[in-house]
This record gives sequence, structure tokens and C-alpha cells, in this order.
Amino acid sequence: MNNPLHVVILAAGAGTRMKSNKLKVLHEVAGKPMIDHVLELAKSLDPSQITVVFGYQGAQLITHFNDQTVNWAEQKHQLGTGHAVQQAVPFFSDDEDVLVLYGDAPLTQSTDLAGLRGRQFVLTATVDEPTGYGRIIRKGEKVSAIVEEKDANPSEALVKEINSGIIQAPAIQMKNWLSRLSNNNQQKEYYLTEVIGLAAQDERPFTAIKLADANAVKGANDMVQLAELEDLFQLRIRERLMQAGVRLIKPNSVDVRGHLSCGKDVVIDKGVVIEGENTLGDDVSIGAYVILRNCQLASGTVVEPHSILDGVVTKGACSVGPFARLRPGTELSSGCKIGNFVETKKAILGQNSKASHLTYLGDAVIGQGVNIGAGTITCNYDGVNKFTTTIKDGAFIGSDSQLIAPVTVGENATIGAGSTITKDTPDEQLTLSRAKQRSVEDWQKPQRKPSKK
Ligand code: UD1
Ligand code: CA
Repeated sequence: MNNPLHVVILAAGAGTRMKSNKLKVLHEVAGKPMIDHVLELAKSLDPSQITVVFGYQGAQLITHFNDQTVNWAEQKHQLGTGHAVQQAVPFFSDDEDVLVLYGDAPLTQSTDLAGLRGRQFVLTATVDEPTGYGRIIRKGEKVSAIVEEKDANPSEALVKEINSGIIQAPAIQMKNWLSRLSNNNQQKEYYLTEVIGLAAQDERPFTAIKLADANAVKGANDMVQLAELEDLFQLRIRERLMQAGVRLIKPNSVDVRGHLSCGKDVVIDKGVVIEGENTLGDDVSIGAYVILRNCQLASGTVVEPHSILDGVVTKGACSVGPFARLRPGTELSSGCKIGNFVETKKAILGQNSKASHLTYLGDAVIGQGVNIGAGTITCNYDGVNKFTTTIKDGAFIGSDSQLIAPVTVGENATIGAGSTITKDTPDEQLTLSRAKQRSVEDWQKPQRKPSKK
């Protein structure tokens, strides 16, 4: 039996190098704050407790974590990573192992920590460009010290094996080493990395666990590194999708900022951005430069290029776009078509209903087999309140009509083009409200006035 695991997440640093008002660990990678990725990892390890060390702009963090069950340890002054872990010590219990994660390193996955329960280790990796990372000074499998870049002598600086920041040790030992930290270094900080040297002196050295994938331990200290993490994360997501059978026509141009689950034979074209929680059924095709946010698209749905779909549900094969904008609350049954320059919001369309061009459908409940002509507007807003437009099965709305809600168009009703409909219209009948056409026989075109010289 291994000891219970206590995960400590460091998130108190000012993140000065980000040059941002936002707390560093709240900056997003793949649509999610870095700290959320780290918390997700922590939770996946089945820990006995999680302690988050907060400090600089801690209020932002506490608000963010609102509904999470974690211990909060305040680090009033940011005196270094070792000092940060010291703040969590009051939460330690002697039977635990303590695992330290850094809030600014979101790429580590539970598989990277597989088989390490109960061990005393530091996670390392070999990188081409070790600038900014602590260097691992080895004695075989064991680590005799970690030297921060700023304190490294020229030969230490050449070492390419770096400290991930992730370490694990029994709580009792950790407490002891933490109590002996000094700030006798270039940055006058209490480094967590000194723990590794103290352990070696005590002949209880840490084992270096070197990850094959060096990217898994990368952290973000500035916007350049944050962009690198984003790229690495996207690579991972795309690979996972393609391995699951999704066709990405131009993989490097597709970004998934959130979660995407796909059926068989889904095709995603160039430049697509996917945000939030999304599900695509079999044979869904997403055209170039489409944005999807929180959508559930049923099998066979085709989204043509340059469309934006936000909070959309399709219940069967539908066609959307090109250049369509579908906003939250849009629900399409099978066979629907939403064409170019059509905007929808809280619009529910029954089977085989179509709005092919230039239309606004807001707060609309539309039956089956309805045809909405070009230029139709549901006037849902009187400046204060929103009202519903109901269009019954089989209705035909002539082009350039305004439907002033609340209003109902009857079953199989026809609305003549160019009408402004203010009252409910009967089933089966033609209703139109436009002025009668007339022609003026003796009409004289205006003449140009003689120009004054
Ligand atoms: C740290 C390590 C370095 C390692 C690198 C990996 C130390 C001394 N250095 O350097 O060996 O290679 O991470 O990414 O540990 N934090 C606090 N309180 C503080 C200072 C920092 O909570 O007083 C938090 C930060 O919010 C951050 C984490 O600790 O989440 C790491 O701090 P950071 O300043 O980014 O350390 P690095 O310079 O990257
Ligand atoms: Ca860092």
C-alpha cells in the first residue's frame, strides 16, 4: 500500500515576465487556464488532499476556483518556490507523500506520472535549449543537486537535463528539508530545488525520472513560451483526433480550445477553430474557416465555409452556410438548411425547413417544411422585451417580409413577398400587407436644370 498522496500546486508567483494584469496561471492553453490543466492532473492522481499556494492577486485565483475543494495556503510574500511549499506544510500529515506541481506547467499528463506512486523523485527531461530551467546535476540515477540557471557555473550551464519542477517525497522528509532552506543564491529566494541538494547530503537522494517527451514538462514564464505551450498542446489534440479517425485536411491550421468528440469519417477543413464542448456525429463535414463553439451536430451535418456556430444542436443531417451565423439556442431538425448571410438565435426549426439567404430568425419556433424567403426578419425586440414568432408546418414566407412578434403564421399559410405581418395569419391562406402596385401613364422624367454660367 502506498501512502496517501498530497498534491501541492504552486500558483503564488507574480508572473512578472508575462507583463500582464492577469495572474500568470490563469492564462489559457487550449482554451483553459493553465492552473485548470494542472488541477485536472492533480485530481486524476486520486489524492488525499490538494493544497493550492496562492499569493500575488490571490483573489483572482480564489474566485476562479470557487467550486473546487482544495486547501488554500497563502504565501504573503513571494520569496521563492521553496518558501511557497513551506506555506503548505501546516496541511501535511505524516503518513502522506507530497507531490509538488507548478501552476505554470500545464502539459504534464497522468501517464507521465504512472508507476511513480510511493517513490521519491524529481521529473526531468533533456532539452536542446535549457535556458531558464534548473539544471540536473546527477550521480547516476540519483540527483546530487539542482542548480538554477542564474547560479550555474559555465560547465553546469551546459547541462541539458532540466528540472521540471515536479518533485515527490514523504511529507516528513519534505518538512525537514523545507525547514533548512536558505536564500543564499543570486535571486535571494528560498528555492524548492535546494531540497534536492539537502536530500543528497542526508543520503536520501531523489531519483531522476527522465521523460522521453521533453515537452511534457515545459512551463510558461512569458508570452513566447505560452505560445509554444499552445502549439504543443494543439499538436497533441490533433494527433489524438487523427488517431481516432478524424480527417484533418490541414492539421496545423485547426485549433481545438476545449473538448471535441467525433464519430466516424468526420472531415475538418483548413482554418477551423473549435471552442468549448463539442460533439460531431458520423460523416459531419466542417468547411474551411468555420468557428464552432459548444455545438452538437448530428450525423451527416455539413457546415460550409466561413460559418460561425455557437450553442447549436442539429438533430439530423442539416446544411449550414457558407457565411451563416448561428447563435445559442439554435436547434435544427434533419433536412434543415440555413444558407448564406442568415443569422439565427433561439430558433427551433422542424424537419426540412429552410432559410436559404439573408434572414434573421430570433426567438422563433418554426414547424416542418417551412420555407423562409430571402430577406425575412423576425422582429423579436421592441426595444425592451423579446417576443416569439411561431411559424406552423408548411408555411411559405415570401421574400423581404417582416414578422412583428408576438405573431403566429398558420399552417400552410403563404405570406406575400414584402409584407409586414403584425397579426396572426390564418392556415392555408395567402396573407399580404404590401401596397398595391400601380403605374403612372403620363409620367415625366425629371429634366436636368440648365446650368448657370
Ligand atoms: C522553476 C524551477 C526550475 C525549473 C522550472 C520549471 C525553482 C527555484 N526553479 O523555475 O528549476 O526548471 O521552474 O518550469 O524552483 N511560485 C510561487 N511562489 C514563489 C515563486 C514561485 O508560488 O515565491 C510559483 C509560480 O507561481 C509558478 C511556480 O511556482 O507557478 C514556478 O515559479 P517560477 O518563478 O515560474 O519558476 P521558474 O523560474 O520557472
Ligand atoms: Ca516557470
